[in-house]
Amino acid sequence: MKKIEPRALRDAFGQFMTGVTVVTCLDETGRPVGFTANSFSSVSLTPPLLLVCPGKFLTSFKAFNACERFAVSVLSEGQEDIANVFAGYKGDRFSRVGHAIDASGVPVIEGAVASFSCRTHQVMPAGDHAILIGEVMDFSQSEGRGLGYAGGRFFSLGLEHKARDPGARTNICGALVEANGGVLLKPSPEGYRLPECVAPDRTSLRDCLRDELQGLGMDVELGPVYSVFDDQSQGIHFAYLRAQATNVASTAGYENIPFSELSGLTFRSAATAHMLERFAEEARTRNFNLYLGDAVSGETHQIQARA
Ligand SMILES: Cc1cc2nc3c(=O)[nH]c(=O)nc-3n(C[C@H](O)[C@H](O)[C@H](O)COP(=O)(O)O)c2cc1C
Repeated sequence: MKKIEPRALRDAFGQFMTGVTVVTCLDETGRPVGFTANSFSSVSLTPPLLLVCPGKFLTSFKAFNACERFAVSVLSEGQEDIANVFAGYKGDRFSRVGHAIDASGVPVIEGAVASFSCRTHQVMPAGDHAILIGEVMDFSQSEGRGLGYAGGRFFSLGLEHKARDPGARTNICGALVEANGGVLLKPSPEGYRLPECVAPDRTSLRDCLRDELQGLGMDVELGPVYSVFDDQSQGIHFAYLRAQATNVASTAGYENIPFSELSGLTFRSAATAHMLERFAEEARTRNFNLYLGDAVSGETHQIQARA
């Protein structure tokens, strides 16, 4: 018989496209626990049943194996951060994510495209996982698309559609906020990120960014455009502006990272990493250039130096 390598099998299973859910319950002390799961499946309409497979490796496995109630929240496009929190963050996951409490006291994720509150119907051991079958006691559904997962990566049908329609791109505008020889960055499981917003069109990038930064409690003066590029594969147009913090308190989880430490960090995308490497280099002489191109290649243009 052919020896089945778990790693290779996991990759092959990963070819099956799924949605992404967060499964939650209360542990024996009444503390909420949760994990990201793509093993969700609908099972039956009458009676209303669904299933999800918690792994025995989960720190919360004991809770899911014994729970009488649990909930499944189907994440929506744009909730990748929440999926990452519930897949990797080791602290209080619920303090990082907006949630409501269902009739059984179990948290459900805010902004999910659907959520199901369940009574445990059956738990079956199954190899290194268990099959947790729930009877749906209540559910809700909202407009929008679910977040996708395939080949170990998240995907969004909305962005895929936009990528095919060049007229309908997503516009993301971000800021390199300088504060005392550093840049404000937020750590996330996927790497450090800059403050960003999704703008409705390319004519309102600055306003959108100003509102976003204000919302984050950052006191900043927006400066010139620093980098403009398209990511063809995702259909996203990025524009980053320089900005100066006028009040340096670190806010909303953003940390002031010194220029000298930027090159050693992991960023959410290679394009962000390149941009910040260039920024750290140019900040030494205060001779900033403008980058125009795509996420992989482009040109830097000399612009008038401004302190
Ligand atoms: C997209 C995705 C799907 C996942 N699906 C499952 C799953 O179905 N069952 C499972 O046990 N773990 C799954 N995981 C892994 C768990 O989310 C992860 O191991 C867990 O949150 C770790 O929690 P712990 O630190 O409390 O052990 C998945 C992770 C991701 C990113």
